[in-house]
Amino acid sequence: MSRALTVSRAAQLVGVSRAVLQRMIRAGELAQSEGLLDIDELLRAFPDARVEESGILEKVVRIREEAFGRRVREHVLPSPELLSQRLFAQSQELAEMRRHLQAYHALVAATIERLARRPAPPDLAGEAREMLERGLAQVLGSESDNRLDAMTDMLKVVSANVVVRPSGREFLVQGNDSILQAGLKAGLGLNYGCAGGNCGLCKARVVSGETRQILHSDYSLSAAERAQGYLLLCAHTAVGDLVIETLEAGSPADIPEQELVARVRAIQPLGPNTMLLHLQAPRSARLRFLAGQGATVGLAQPGGDLQATWPIASCPCDDRNLHFHVARDPADALAEQLFAGAVKSGDTLGVRGPSGDFVLGADMPPRAVFLACDTGFGPIKSLIEHAMAAEAVERFSLYWLASRPDGHYLGNQCQAWTDAFDEFDYDAASDDDVARGASLLAKRAFDEGDCGASRYFIAGPQAFVDAAARELLEAGAPAERLRATTC
Ligand code: FES
Repeated sequence: MSRALTVSRAAQLVGVSRAVLQRMIRAGELAQSEGLLDIDELLRAFPDARVEESGILEKVVRIREEAFGRRVREHVLPSPELLSQRLFAQSQELAEMRRHLQAYHALVAATIERLARRPAPPDLAGEAREMLERGLAQVLGSESDNRLDAMTDMLKVVSANVVVRPSGREFLVQGNDSILQAGLKAGLGLNYGCAGGNCGLCKARVVSGETRQILHSDYSLSAAERAQGYLLLCAHTAVGDLVIETLEAGSPADIPEQELVARVRAIQPLGPNTMLLHLQAPRSARLRFLAGQGATVGLAQPGGDLQATWPIASCPCDDRNLHFHVARDPADALAEQLFAGAVKSGDTLGVRGPSGDFVLGADMPPRAVFLACDTGFGPIKSLIEHAMAAEAVERFSLYWLASRPDGHYLGNQCQAWTDAFDEFDYDAASDDDVARGASLLAKRAFDEGDCGASRYFIAGPQAFVDAAARELLEAGAPAERLRATTC
């Protein structure tokens, strides 16, 4: 049985985020060898890890539910076919290990017996026997080691670990997810197009591990590609742990502009002056985007089309469901139509995008500080959900300024994040003078944060962005650590 774990699996076992383990590795508090962590090392660093007490699975499920809502929740258990394949693979490994263990045990026991019968020299025989007995006890392991091993095996049955080359990023495939779905949920910028087995854009090479096709595909890979191990990530799931080779989008320039027609799933007031527009893309034409980006939404009308560019408020990990937080604005004719009830659930709207470069970036620092004003919370929400999915940030601080009575229209969501994550702080403030409120919040954010380890994301009206950025720069925040968008 392997005593080494991937960082993802280790994080799942001891109930912390990958970012926490990676910080410990960087700080030299945890040793890593070839990208893997030793179970003994893990137990040394987390001596209190107890499988039955930690509620690891419950915690993972709770965080997913509270952070991403019902629509992203999937069945945690894989299909019976996949489960039986994984169980079979685990049984084979266990049977082989048991055979080895029995052989070693018999060998050691026979050696101890022979040493006991040896007449001389007694000291040497006694010492050797003691050493062997001690070694045998270590092989059998402590109770907590055995529990951790058992938990690792159980996790291997319900999920598979995927390592992506060359980035080295990893994620778990759970339930009946395709490799693509699981990668997107984990916040990776994997290449894809239709997500339905037709375009071939999600083609990737499997370096090692077993996969299973779960979706019919009309796209044909060439014989040479199949021989080299290429497959479509959207049409396959992982039977066991995998290593795959594929490129990921790291910046907005890596994602082409797309156009699609989406259906209005819901239009729901979040407050007197704020509306949630929930669009659902067809299964075969989703919008690929990076968290924090926006899209242009268009409504065809007899007198001329209306269109507006709004930030996307949802996570790219759920690319079919696009959320927009739309503010009442007399200068925005499409927004006015939404508030007037001219657009209804079931209508279709054109979507073109993505646009903008307000994104997390590939090299996330340990701490992210978010400053939002009113519906500037939309793109910030997308960034936060994505960073949580990617486990790329160790500490989140959210400062949200309301310049009108319904400015904190999703305050409960922020409170839920605070409750679900130890490393999430939320600070809400109100001020109808946006520039004054921005300066006060930015000063507080700087004083409470660690400017050397923080990146600042600012979203809101121009006056808010300008004042917050000015305050942060004057306080000493490096300009390259500031990202801003107006909305
Ligand atoms: S995304 Fe189009 S075939 Fe997989």
